[in-house]
Amino acid sequence: MYLIDIYKKVKRFRLFEPSLGVLGLTVCVIFCFFLLDYRSAAKGIWFPTQSEWFLWMRSEGGVGVNVNVKENMKKIDFLSEINGGCDLFDGDWMWDESYPLYQSGDCRFLDEGFRCSENGRPDLFYTKWRWQPKNCNLPRFDAKIMLEKLRNKRVAFVGDSIGRNQWESLLCMLSSATSDKNAIYEVNGNPITKHNGFLIFKFVQYNCTVEYYRAPFLVLQSRPPPNLPSKIKTTLKLDQMDWTSYKWRDADVLIFNTGHWWNYEKTIRGGCYFQEGSDVKMDMGVETAYWRSLKTVVEWVNLEVNTTKTQVLFRTYAPVHFRGGDWRSGGTCHLETVPELGSSLVPSHTWTKYTIFAQVIKDHSKLTGLRVLEVLNVTHMSSRRKDGHPSLYYLGPAGIAPIHRQDCSHWCLPGVPDTWNELIYALFLKRELTRTSNSSYFHAQV
Ligand SMILES: *[C@@H]1O[C@H](CO)[C@@H](O)[C@H](O)[C@H]1NC(C)=O
Ligand SMILES: *[C@@H]1O[C@H](CO)[C@@H](O)[C@H](O)[C@H]1NC(C)=O
Ligand SMILES: *[C@@H]1O[C@H](CO)[C@@H](O)[C@H](O)[C@H]1NC(C)=O
Ligand SMILES: *[C@@H]1O[C@H](CO)[C@@H](O)[C@H](O)[C@H]1NC(C)=O
Repeated sequence: MYLIDIYKKVKRFRLFEPSLGVLGLTVCVIFCFFLLDYRSAAKGIWFPTQSEWFLWMRSEGGVGVNVNVKENMKKIDFLSEINGGCDLFDGDWMWDESYPLYQSGDCRFLDEGFRCSENGRPDLFYTKWRWQPKNCNLPRFDAKIMLEKLRNKRVAFVGDSIGRNQWESLLCMLSSATSDKNAIYEVNGNPITKHNGFLIFKFVQYNCTVEYYRAPFLVLQSRPPPNLPSKIKTTLKLDQMDWTSYKWRDADVLIFNTGHWWNYEKTIRGGCYFQEGSDVKMDMGVETAYWRSLKTVVEWVNLEVNTTKTQVLFRTYAPVHFRGGDWRSGGTCHLETVPELGSSLVPSHTWTKYTIFAQVIKDHSKLTGLRVLEVLNVTHMSSRRKDGHPSLYYLGPAGIAPIHRQDCSHWCLPGVPDTWNELIYALFLKRELTRTSNSSYFHAQV
């Protein structure tokens, strides 16, 4: 036992070796902060504050962060902006001392895999970035306001584990409004760490539920038709929604995501083929299948969802950031501690997934003249956040992962998915505003 401990410690130390440079830089940065603060206090003359200095350093270093705080103060608030002139997804990551919105230690709704700092991640920089749209300001997230607006309502996330990542983030963000442990519970008594299809958390005082449904493909995966070669183990019915769809169709806010399972490894290699009608399409490629499935989702929303009641959002593909390989072949991201403007680490499949979705949406609205869902266009903004992943710090008390087994797909919490939820907050409040007022504001929207 004792020897094993020592061995682990040595191993751990070796894992840190490559990051000594980063550690050195961090120590230097902290020292400089200290020095600058001390000087400004002593002399009463202007010196940049920690955050200004940090931003200066970052932008000089080519990170591309907008430093001009004064300029942002002049920007119009997204909620009072009426001409649709503000693209929320076009902007910059800004250092903000008031972040994060919660501490992972205070939130009991997080899977161990997302608790990076508690799992030993040494830097906290990744928790300090706020998204700043170029042409307007986002409303500051307020859990009480959101819960009040969600009274008697249901929010449902449907998708893969990155959707779960975002759902847990929202649970933490909302639960920060109450300290009463009994005020929030899973309606079937299931613990959050158990993956059993779906989980429904209820905020009792508000009679509101925040739900997660695991449906990584969004369309139905089930048994193949009879009398086919045995290598066909399951099929994805590209023209049918996941079997759970009846459960979430009537939610008040519905947030879809998909993409990370649409690859050869997670489909054909495991004997999962694609089916349309009763035909199994042995030759269909993954990209085509992905395209067809998205068409099904959009058409299903159009036909089956009452979009007067339900706000439907589709979160676009979240990029992964493996350097020097992928998740199977030892790709890494553990040395990333700051965002970047260039997206050199983002693999091309990210943009393929993104453009296929964008094209499906465009085609559908051209064909029908309808915009049935709102796009939560996070791909570009998140591609700059190579610093946001758990990397080695996803194992919980089991320690730090081996260097060649990194998680550069999911996101640390608090972290990037909080921002996606702040965007949902803004879009949700805006919709509430347009629904409840019949002022000129509403008419300007149409
Ligand atoms: C998504 O955001 C990026 C970056 O702002 C932009 O280039 C792209 O056109 C947006 N796409 C959609 C579908 O809104
Ligand atoms: C609670 O919310 C649900 C919808 O999520 C609604 O059907 C039900 O009537 C609400 N209950 C009360 C007591 O308002
Ligand atoms: C759609 O939802 C609205 C708002 O809740 C409701 O008034 C309307 O009756 C619904 N329409 C249908 C067809 O159910
Ligand atoms: C819209 O506002 C006007 C004036 O405030 C009011 O008289 C009218 O009843 C409102 N209409 C609806 C549908 O709420």
